[in-house]
Amino acid sequence: MEARIDLYQSPRDVSDAELKKAAVIVIDVLRASNSIIAAVDNGCKRVVPVIEVYEAKTLAVRFASEHALLCGEREARIIPGFDLGNSPFEYKAERVKNRTLIFCSTNGSLAMVRAGAATNAVVGSFANVSAIVDKLKSENYIAILCAGLKQRISLEDTVCGGIFVDALLRARPSAWKLNDAAAAAQALFLHHAKDLLSMAKASEHGSYLSHIGAEDDIKHCVQIDSTATIPVIKVDSGRLVTVVKDS
Ligand code: MLT
Repeated sequence: MEARIDLYQSPRDVSDAELKKAAVIVIDVLRASNSIIAAVDNGCKRVVPVIEVYEAKTLAVRFASEHALLCGEREARIIPGFDLGNSPFEYKAERVKNRTLIFCSTNGSLAMVRAGAATNAVVGSFANVSAIVDKLKSENYIAILCAGLKQRISLEDTVCGGIFVDALLRARPSAWKLNDAAAAAQALFLHHAKDLLSMAKASEHGSYLSHIGAEDDIKHCVQIDSTATIPVIKVDSGRLVTVVKDS
């Protein structure tokens, strides 16, 4: 049977109805995917992505009994009054183990909330390509949902989408039909494969992160296959989108 990979450069390019039919890989390389991979790797109970800061604060009150941590960024800096920002290095076991994290970031949270429309969705980055490809390679419809930058293309998310396309094609040769964005992303990945760090630093968001002193985050976020952890996106019984470790 012919299988399909569609890549979307930002959440505004895809409807919930299309996401619902697919196994979805959400990508926000700089840096939400990697903060969430680190949190899940380090034993957090769950991550609850939310779009607006006021929603995060409201949920913190709702989850007060479990001492939920408020996490996230605006303009890539910690939100005043929050516990953690959006550097993956902040999501260490001593801070996050067994905790609920309410996570509000500019682009990544929106993509994760949108992926709640799908029955099968994961959070991906360069860090967990092989693990995700192994899990999803037998699917017949994969949607790669790039968080992008303010609802537009971002270079690093598209290149990362391209590594997933490339690895899926290798895992199941000649099975896949690609949309044009997926084919373009694969070509872009192959172009940048030898130096992902320079690509990420030169991207719009990468140069901004360098400017505010977050170069170490960029280096961390372009490491390939540093973990087998797969954060999965689920809607809980209270209809809240949550991210937990794949069981
Ligand atoms: C986002 O979700 O927009 C980002 O992860 C921004 C950041 O680098 O903190």
